Amino acid sequence: MTKTFDVVVIGAGPGGYIAAIRAAQLGLNTACIDEQSNDKGAPAPGGTCTNVGCIPSKALLQSSENYDHAAHHFAEHGITLDHLAIDVKKMLARKDNVVKQNNDGILFLFKKNKVTFFHGRGSFARAVEGGYEIAVKGAVDETIQARHVIVATGSSARALPGVPFDEQRVLSNDGALRIPDVPKRLGVVGSGVIGLEMGSVWRRLGAEVTVLEALPAFMTAVDESVAKEALKVFTKQGLKIEFGVNISAVKSGEEGVVVTYTDAKGAEQTLAVDKLIVSIGRSPHTAGLNAEAVGLQIDQRGAVVVDAECKTSLPNVWAVGDVVRGPMLAHKAEEEGVAVAERIAGQHGHVNFNTIPWVIYTSPEIAWVGQTEQQIKAEGRAYKAGQFPFMANGRARALGNTTGFVKFLADAKTDEILGVHIIGPMASELISEAVVAMEFRASAEDIARICHAHPSLSEATKEAALAVDKRTLNF
Ligand code: FAD
Ligand code: NAI
Repeated sequence: MTKTFDVVVIGAGPGGYIAAIRAAQLGLNTACIDEQSNDKGAPAPGGTCTNVGCIPSKALLQSSENYDHAAHHFAEHGITLDHLAIDVKKMLARKDNVVKQNNDGILFLFKKNKVTFFHGRGSFARAVEGGYEIAVKGAVDETIQARHVIVATGSSARALPGVPFDEQRVLSNDGALRIPDVPKRLGVVGSGVIGLEMGSVWRRLGAEVTVLEALPAFMTAVDESVAKEALKVFTKQGLKIEFGVNISAVKSGEEGVVVTYTDAKGAEQTLAVDKLIVSIGRSPHTAGLNAEAVGLQIDQRGAVVVDAECKTSLPNVWAVGDVVRGPMLAHKAEEEGVAVAERIAGQHGHVNFNTIPWVIYTSPEIAWVGQTEQQIKAEGRAYKAGQFPFMANGRARALGNTTGFVKFLADAKTDEILGVHIIGPMASELISEAVVAMEFRASAEDIARICHAHPSLSEATKEAALAVDKRTLNF
């Protein structure tokens, strides 16, 4: 007999697995289908984020930062090392173990919440009375029936035209996380989030890293003052970034990879590297979904078309995460997953797109929420800005990490916080206070009046809020 579910989720990345758990919590009979396997053929739920994205990249960023500290900063603390070495094989094995713990954690959560998991590819078979038939192709082939379907099939790396990823020399995020030895020369195409994070990992371990960026400027989506500071710091760290490049050819062979491009002045240049990471953005992933069978609308970018509530063109078919419009972030996917599950259960799920934080896990970290100064200026809105440097923060000095600042932008009249931008130590953690404040539509003065523990990096947040009113206490 056909198994029938209230909700079938296709994809177990952060959008899908969280949607499935929330739906099950709300009493809906839920299944989740995911096709990812690990190198032993076992299920590897968690999607891009867990397997080849957020989690493994942060594991390698941590390992390489530890190495960098040992090489360059331990001596300041009076710690000397006779022989410092990096065992890349062990570093990669640790990363794989971190990934596996997350895969297993999700399988455990499915069991705990009574979500039925199918390991295989899910695709639309046909619409039927009261729902849809979904074909599962995996270890066992079967067809299941769903009253509601949530598409959470994620995204995949974009390749340069005519230059497919071989994951040996021309690498996507997948290959970039599995380089077996520190390359002498590493090329990176694209100075976006992946380029900066993965470029940082291999630079810290000793690679000579050159980043080729098509745009004439650095990090155009980031607040200009943060982007300016970041470029200064990354260049000092040894990342070579060239702007305004136009790549005309990429040749890969035994000797490595040769990239031919014109530089910002229009002169032809070549870059010879051992490995080339191509990180020029990601495309929504709908291949294999058989969307045509049911007439699910897909746009020109390959994204599933949804409205503000993640409803697709078909009744009771929803889509969340990287496969739809909006930022490609794990926490955005999760929020949409929860909201959709709640809407299916008759509740009023909500996602506030204005308070989704961004974090880039370089060193120093970069994090922000809300509008940038250039966006506020473009709107013509009157605003006040306040900034506080980590150089003047006692905890940052004790940590030995005083690069960067916290910057507040607030409405000139009401003092409502419009945006907070941080470049500095633990920016990923510090940004949460700003997210909470903006969610409650707080003013800069609200933050300035709150008691912050001393000595802590969060005091820089309070001081930046005080700076909006030109009354910092420690600077
Ligand atoms: P995905 O995580 O892509 O999951 C989709 C899942 O669906 C996959 O397991 C896929 O195999 C499966 N699937 C697809 N089609 C089918 C089908 N037909 N049947 C069955 N299964 C199917 N975001 C952050 O917020 N913070 C970070 O630090 C961060 N770091 C990143 C680092 C890297 C290197 C990369 C590449 C991305 C990073 N991201 C980060 C982005 C984040 O990974 C994505 O935004 C997030 O994974 C999107 O979640 P999702 O559930 O929409 O899709
Ligand atoms: P990205 O969109 O962040 O950056 C791509 C960069 O490549 C841009 O600067 C773009 O101008 C440049 N580019 C595009 N085509 C080019 C070409 N032909 N030649 C040279 N440069 C070119 O994309 P990226 O880094 O691939 O990451 C994809 C997404 O994954 C991110 O947008 C983000 O949503 C997510 N991600 C999030 C992370 C985080 O939250 N910390 C970490 C890593 C990825």
